Amino acid sequence: MPEDPRHTDRPSVAHLSAPLDLRNGRRLPNRLMKSALSESLGAPDCGPSPELERLYRRWAQGGYGLVVTGNVMVDRRHRGEPGNVVIEDDRHIEGLKRWAAAFQGALPDASENAPENAPDSPAPADRTPLWMQINHPGRQANALVGKHRPVAPSAVAARVAGAVKPRELSDTGIREIIDRYATAAALARSAGFDGVQLHGAHGYLITQFLSPLSNRRTDAWGGDPERRRRFVLEVLRATRAATAPDFAIGIKLNSADFQRGGFSEEESQEVVGALVAEGIDLIEISGGSYEAPAMMGVMRPSTAAREAYFLEYAATVRKLAGDVPIAVTGGFRTVSAMDEAVAAGECDVIGLGRPTCVLPDAPRRILHAGAHSLPSANIRAGMRPLLGRVTNLRQLDGILDLSWHTDQLHRIGAGHHPDPARSVLRTATAMALRNGPTAFRAKRG
Ligand SMILES: Cc1cc2nc3c(=O)[nH]c(=O)nc-3n(C[C@H](O)[C@H](O)[C@H](O)COP(=O)(O)O)c2cc1C
Repeated sequence: MPEDPRHTDRPSVAHLSAPLDLRNGRRLPNRLMKSALSESLGAPDCGPSPELERLYRRWAQGGYGLVVTGNVMVDRRHRGEPGNVVIEDDRHIEGLKRWAAAFQGALPDASENAPENAPDSPAPADRTPLWMQINHPGRQANALVGKHRPVAPSAVAARVAGAVKPRELSDTGIREIIDRYATAAALARSAGFDGVQLHGAHGYLITQFLSPLSNRRTDAWGGDPERRRRFVLEVLRATRAATAPDFAIGIKLNSADFQRGGFSEEESQEVVGALVAEGIDLIEISGGSYEAPAMMGVMRPSTAAREAYFLEYAATVRKLAGDVPIAVTGGFRTVSAMDEAVAAGECDVIGLGRPTCVLPDAPRRILHAGAHSLPSANIRAGMRPLLGRVTNLRQLDGILDLSWHTDQLHRIGAGHHPDPARSVLRTATAMALRNGPTAFRAKRG
C-alpha cells in the first residue's frame, strides 16, 4: 500500500504530548492550552447563552491540555464590551453550571448523547480542565455598555481613541473590587469550573495597578513597585481564601506594556517571584495593551518576526518560577517551534489564541494527525494610505483582527463551521452592527 504522504515526516510532539502536574494536584493531559478569547456571546442579562455552551462543546472535543474561557466580568457596571458574561452573585449559577457541564460532559467521539461514563469518556482525572478568566477592565471599561464612569487606580485616561478619563478609586473601592474577584472565583467553583485565571495582562485593572504610567498613587496601593503589585497579590490571596486548595488559580501576566516609562520586564520578573511565593498554580505570559497591542504581534518588526513574541522573556522567568509552570501565548504557529520551546525548558505550556477560532481541534491535529503548523490569518485594514491619515493603523489592525476572530467564534456558537475565507469588509460591517457607536474603539482581550 502506498505510504500516505501526510504521515511520513511528522514533527516531534514528544514534549507537547507529555502531561503536566500542577501544584494543586490536578494534571493537564498535555501542553497545549486554549488561551482566553472573549466570546461576546453572553445573554442580554449577562448570563451564559446556549451559543456559548455550543462553542465550548466544540473546544471540549479539541484535545487541549487546558481551556481558559474568555474574560468574565466581576462587575456589571464595568464591562469590556457588549456580550460579556458577568459573575457577581448567584443569579446565573444554573447557566454557569450548564456552561461548565457542556464542556466537561462532551465526549471525544463528538456524540453529545453518549452517556457520561461511556468507555471512551476520559476518566475525570484526565479530562481537560476548564478555567474561567475573571477580569475587571478598570479604565478600559466601555462606559456606554456599563453606563458608569470607568474607575482606575488614578484618573489617567488610556491613550486610545474615545477613551474616557476614569475616576480614581478610593481605598474602600479597591477593597470592594478585591472581594468581587473572590466572589467570582467561589461562584466559578460552585458552578463546576476547575479553576480561575486572573487577567493580569493587556492593560486591564490589574495591569493598571502594576504600571507606573496608569498608577500614580502614593498611598498603600502605589508609589513604588512593591505597593503597585499589592493589588494583584491581595486579589490572589482573597480568591485563594474563597476557594479550596485543589481549585486552580492562575494568572495571565504581561511581560511588559511596551511603553516608555511603563511596566518593565524587571518589574514583571519581581511580580512573578511574588506570585510564586503566594502559591499561584500557573503563570501565562503575554504582553502589551490596547495602546500598544503587542499581544497580537502588532509591535516592532524585529519582535513580531520571532514566532513566539514573549518566549525570550518567559525563559528568564522559567528559572524564577521553580515548580510553577509557565505558559507563553502569542504567535505560536509551527509545531516544531512549540515542541522545541518546551524541550528547551523555555516554557512548559503553549498558549494558542487565534488559531483555535478557525481550528477548534488544533491540539488533536497537532498531537494525533501530524499537523506541521496552524493557520495564521493576516487581517489588516485596506485603503491604508487614506485611513492612515485619519486613524492609528496599528490600533485599527488590532481591532479588525480581534473582530474577525470573534466572528469565527460566533459562527461556531451558531452551529456553523468557521470560515477562514471571510473578508475583512464583512467583519467591519458585523462589528459596526454588533457594537454600534463603540465599534471602532480599541477594546477587548
Ligand atoms: C477575539 C479575541 C479575543 C480575545 N480575548 C481575550 C480575553 O478575553 N482575555 C485575554 O487574556 N486575552 C484575550 N485575547 C488575546 C489572546 O488570548 C492571545 O493572547 C492573543 O490572541 C495572542 O495569541 P495568538 O497569537 O495565539 O492568537 C483575545 C484575542 C482575540 C483574537
